[in-house]
Amino acid sequence: MSGCFITFEGVEGVGKSTQLGLLEDRLVSDGFDVVVTREPGGTPLAEQMRALVLHNRSEPMPDAAELMLMFAARAVHTENLIRPALERGAIVLCDRYTDATYAYQGGGRGIADRLIDPLVELAQRGLWPALTILLDAPVGPSLERAKARTGKTDRIESETLAFFERVRDRYRARAAAEPGRIQVVDATGSREAVAARIQTLIRPILGR
Ligand code: TMP
Repeated sequence: MSGCFITFEGVEGVGKSTQLGLLEDRLVSDGFDVVVTREPGGTPLAEQMRALVLHNRSEPMPDAAELMLMFAARAVHTENLIRPALERGAIVLCDRYTDATYAYQGGGRGIADRLIDPLVELAQRGLWPALTILLDAPVGPSLERAKARTGKTDRIESETLAFFERVRDRYRARAAAEPGRIQVVDATGSREAVAARIQTLIRPILGR
């Protein structure tokens, strides 16, 4: 596969989408073929699955169903969008991928890795990002920012502060275990300062 797969991770409100947009602008102006996408979602079918898993409704969603919907959406997205884009040589910038599942369904909900691992195998058939940028900042202010932005919360955003602390802890633990792929970026400070940190990480990956 000749393209380059880069993912952005972090808790809600940490600035992922802003930074992803800034990087997209930069890469497009440098002449790269860039595809921007997100999870859960990214294709019409996977976006329908996103609505299923994130919308608030009165009937409870068991954690197992949430986990499997994330992977159903991921299988669709990986096969129908990410792989074809990489095969034609594009840079794929994806807002969240499998690290989010280990952080939210693993760290947040408490589902064991041994139950998640086989679904990873099935849904993405070995496709992992070349680089994952983990935007890291204290959870409290990040969540406040996310809530102020949208004005309403989806099913997962309505979780407690303790849930998001576990999510952040799991993200950081994954970064410590895979320092080659997952780069932690301090997401505090101006958006220009954070963008400059990300540029420094991207340059060697795209040095071709
Ligand atoms: P976002 O597009 O605002 O980041 O919302 C996606 C939500 O879905 C966010 O709360 C994180 C959550 N999520 C999971 O719980 N597991 C996953 O595997 C993915 C991709 C997202």
